[in-house]
Amino acid sequence: MPDAPGGGRWWETAVGYEVYLRSFADGTGDGTGDLPGLIDRLDHLEALGIDVVWVTPFMPSPGADHGYDVADYRDIDPPFGTLADFDRLVAEAHARGIRVLVDIVPNHTSSEHPWFLDALSGPASNKRDWYLWRDPAPDGGPPNNWVSYFGGPAWTFDPVSGQYYCHLFLPEQPDLNWRNPDVRAAFDDILRYWLDRGADGFRIDVAHSLLKDPDLRDNPQLSEIPPGADPMNAFLSFQHLHDMDQDDNPGIFRRWNTIAAEYDALLLGEIALDDFERVRRYTDGGDALHRVFALRTTWMAWNPAYVAESVRDLATTVGPGVAWAFSCHDQPRPVTRFGGGVRGAERTMVLSALSLALDGMPFLYQGQELGIGDGEPLTGIREDPIAVRNEGAAGRDGCRTPMPWAEGSQNGFTTAPTAWLPSRARPSAETVEGQRSRDGSWLERHRELLGLWRRVRHLADRPAELLPTDDDLMIIARRGRLVAIANLSEHPADAAVPEGDWSVVFSSRDGVGERTVEGAVVVPAESALLLRG
Ligand code: BGC
Repeated sequence: MPDAPGGGRWWETAVGYEVYLRSFADGTGDGTGDLPGLIDRLDHLEALGIDVVWVTPFMPSPGADHGYDVADYRDIDPPFGTLADFDRLVAEAHARGIRVLVDIVPNHTSSEHPWFLDALSGPASNKRDWYLWRDPAPDGGPPNNWVSYFGGPAWTFDPVSGQYYCHLFLPEQPDLNWRNPDVRAAFDDILRYWLDRGADGFRIDVAHSLLKDPDLRDNPQLSEIPPGADPMNAFLSFQHLHDMDQDDNPGIFRRWNTIAAEYDALLLGEIALDDFERVRRYTDGGDALHRVFALRTTWMAWNPAYVAESVRDLATTVGPGVAWAFSCHDQPRPVTRFGGGVRGAERTMVLSALSLALDGMPFLYQGQELGIGDGEPLTGIREDPIAVRNEGAAGRDGCRTPMPWAEGSQNGFTTAPTAWLPSRARPSAETVEGQRSRDGSWLERHRELLGLWRRVRHLADRPAELLPTDDDLMIIARRGRLVAIANLSEHPADAAVPEGDWSVVFSSRDGVGERTVEGAVVVPAESALLLRG
C-alpha cells in the first residue's frame, strides 16, 4: 500500500469515507447492504479519490442498535457476508490503493454475547467482573444517577442476582469493565485478529467512555430533566464527570497504539467531547489515538460565526489529530443542517475544500459526494432505537436511508422489492448514475476536488497554520505550499494572499481551473478557494 507522499505516515494526507454498510449497496438481493455490495462499488470510491474506508459494524449482532451490539468480535453477521468476503474486501480495496478500517465496539457488547450470558449466570461467574454490576440504591432504584444516551437510566435490574448492570446505551448493550485486565487482554487479541486478516486500523466506537469512575459516583446534575425531554436533553442535564472521559482513559489507547504500530495501522476514535482541550489528550504525542472524530462538526447547524469558531478551535487545539467529518450516520446530513438544497450543499462543499488545507484527515460520509440531504423513510417507518423508544424523538433514520445509485426501483441499492429502511425514492439528479459525467454535478465536483488533492498533496509538506484575518467569517489555512481560503459570509469578500507566487487551483463554485493571484483575492459568498504556491 502507498505511503504518504514525502514519507510520512500514510494517514497524514489520506482522505477517508464512511460506509454505513447496511445502507451502502446490497450485493445479495435481500434488501440489506453487505460486504459483497461494497466490493462491487469499490470502483466508485476509487474514482472519487478515497484513500481509506471505514466500514460500520458487520460482526454478528442481534441488531438492537444496528450492529453496535456485537455478539461475536471475530466473525461476520451472515446478512453482511462471510469472513471470506471480508478477506476479499481487503484484497480488492488494497488493489485499488484503498485501506480498510474495521469499526470496533469496545465500550459494550451485546447482551447476547457469550461473555455477558456467562456474567448473567451470577456473581460466581468468572465473566461477572467483565461488566459493571452494583447493588441497588437503598430505595431499591439504580445505584447512581447516570442516564443512557438512548433514554432512561443507564442501569437495568437483574432479578436473578438482585443487582443492576450498567449500560450507557441500550439495556441490550451492557458496558464492559475496562478496569478489569482480562477485558483489556481480550481486546488486544481482537485487534490482532483483524489486523492479521489485513485490516488497516480501526474506527473505535465510544472511545471517550471506556473507563468509568472506579466508585461509580453520581454525576453532578446541572438542571432538572424537563418532562418529556428527549434522551439528548436528559443527557445534557448532567455534567458527565464520572461516566465518561476519565483522566486515565487515553491510557487504553497507548496500549492499543503499540499493537497498531506493529501493523502500521490507524486508530481513529470517536471522542464525543465538546471540550477540545480534553479531546487533545487522546492524540497529543501520537502515542494513543492517531485521529479522532470530535463530533461537533457533525451536528453543528449553519451559524457561520459558530462554524468558523468551531473549525478554528479544533484546528488550533487538536490540530493534526482531527478527522474532519461534517457528516456521519448519527446526525442529520450537513446539507439538511446547513439550510437544505443547493445552498446547503454549497456550504458543505466549502468545509470539505477547507479541510484539505488543515492538518488531520478529511472524511466524507456516503452520499456526501452527491450533495444530498437526509432521505425520507416512508410514513410510519422507524428503525433507529432512539426513535422507537422515545415518543417524538427524530432518531437517526434520515441520514441512514439507502445510498442512491440510480433512478428507479430502490434507487439501485437492492434488487429486493424493498430495502431494510424503506424510503422515498430519490430523483435521478440525486443519484450516482444521474450525476456521473455530468459537468458541474456534485459528484464531479467532489471528484475534481479529490483528484486535485491527489495531484497537489505533496505540497502539503508542512504543519498547517491559520493565517491571521480581521474578518471572523474568513478562514485562511496554510499547509506548506497549499492555502485554502473559506468565506463563510453571505457576501463576497477580499482575502489577503500570502507573499509569493500563488495560483487559484480550485473554487468550490467553479471547480478546477488555474489563475494566478497576487496580494488579494475576491472570495465569493459562502465559497472556498484552494491556492497552490
Ligand atoms: C455510534 C452509534 C451507536 C453508539 C453506540 C456511536 O457513537 O456511532 O451509531 O449507536 O455509538 O454504540
